[in-house]
Amino acid sequence: MANIKYFLGEQIPLEMHKVRVVQRLDLVPIERRLEAIKEGGNNTFLLFNKDIYLDMLTDSGVNAMSDKQIASMMVADDSYAGSATFTRLESKLAEIFDKKFFLPVHQGRACENLLSQMLVKEGSLVPMNYHFTTTKAHIGVNGGKVLELYKAEALNPISSDPFKGDMDIDALNALIAKEGPDKIAFIRIEAGTNLIGGQPVSLANYEIVSKISRDNGIPFIVDASLLADNLHFIKQREDACKEMSIREITKRISDASDIIYFSARKLGHVRGGGIITNDEKTFKTLLEMLPLYEGFSTYGGMSVREMEAMTVGLEETMDEEMINQGPVFIEFMVNELTRLGIPVITPPGGLGAHLDAMAFLDHVPRGEYRAGALASALYIASGVRGMERGTISEEREADGSDHLAAVELLRLALPRRVFTLSQIKYTIDRIAWLYENRKLIGGLKFYEEPKVLRFFFGKLEPTSNWQEKLIAKFKADFGESL
Ligand code: F0G
Repeated sequence: MANIKYFLGEQIPLEMHKVRVVQRLDLVPIERRLEAIKEGGNNTFLLFNKDIYLDMLTDSGVNAMSDKQIASMMVADDSYAGSATFTRLESKLAEIFDKKFFLPVHQGRACENLLSQMLVKEGSLVPMNYHFTTTKAHIGVNGGKVLELYKAEALNPISSDPFKGDMDIDALNALIAKEGPDKIAFIRIEAGTNLIGGQPVSLANYEIVSKISRDNGIPFIVDASLLADNLHFIKQREDACKEMSIREITKRISDASDIIYFSARKLGHVRGGGIITNDEKTFKTLLEMLPLYEGFSTYGGMSVREMEAMTVGLEETMDEEMINQGPVFIEFMVNELTRLGIPVITPPGGLGAHLDAMAFLDHVPRGEYRAGALASALYIASGVRGMERGTISEEREADGSDHLAAVELLRLALPRRVFTLSQIKYTIDRIAWLYENRKLIGGLKFYEEPKVLRFFFGKLEPTSNWQEKLIAKFKADFGESL
């Protein structure tokens, strides 16, 4: 995105790319939207694309690829073993991150599976800045416990803290002093804390955590899935890094860490993942597990076409003009929502705009899933699909009660370079209408609830006929408009 000053004064983002391939979209009538959300058990994961206008469920595997990425797919080397595509990707990773060893896997959570199996034992502790759903689940099945050492500001929805994702260093030191380093399987920092609004981590924080981990002999692992956004924020918001290139910042983060893993569904704009390290012992241990869970060491469950495009995507990630598109669009959306008085997580982060459902639906009882209810209401009102990131995304307590999430968010992911500004404006318009009519929105309750990661397949129903009332108001206000 270019930093352009407009003659007419309006400050809107300006894209440094043009669209060359398009996908047709439909906005189905509101009656169909109600049917669709009912069929999907009020779970936006269970909607089908034919019923969705703007898919803001996730930024995972749905970012727009560049012409150069698509072109590279044609020259991928299909060899089962020893593919030249693998060598090109391995060299690109070594060039950017300066780490010798690379293990390809099919997606980010596969890294979490392998790393947790290798490092987590019954009773292990894993401190991190914030958990991610699949991370916590993998550590849990291996008998470990996740400890979230976030700053108090991290959960403050209205904040000007530029690095809400930073780990609380005092809490980390206190934990090591209390439990001893041996009980700690590894320390994990997630670049761009997904579940609290894609909030970034400062380079200073990576480097302090690194020093503490090295002083205590504890492995330091960085989840770099959301690294691209984090690199942009470090350059924009951290005084000491303003003059540094994206490449230099990346190298400093990499030097700080012992192991980096990533979902290439986000980092690199393809579908895949990988683990990189300089530690030969770690590499050899993981290498033995790779064919069992992923595939041979030169493809690891990925298509070679995706790997070839990842090589190009990683190089493009070193370009500030490329990686700033997501954060700049998100900033536009968050600033507009804030201007309209709508509760949204600030400062703007990466990944997407995050509506604060806790405040948006403060009249809905906590046990009736405010973020889930808002996801359902927004889909009905607009055809926009968001993702619940609140209590539904948590597992129940051992006694069967709900673990009420610290934050109730409706995440509206902005896959990178996918939506236009008019589509963002339409979404803001419908959110504003919903906010005006928020008292019409009621709660949800489960009628089908899986035991693990229930947010994927769980089904819920409204606790009253609020959805019909919402539609009646929509019709009164918008007439025959879709
Ligand atoms: N780590 C982070 C920070 C993530 O955001 C994700 C995925 C993963 C690990 C797992 O990677 O999906 O390739 O297996 N986040 C997606 C999302 C699912 O929608 O936010 P994966």
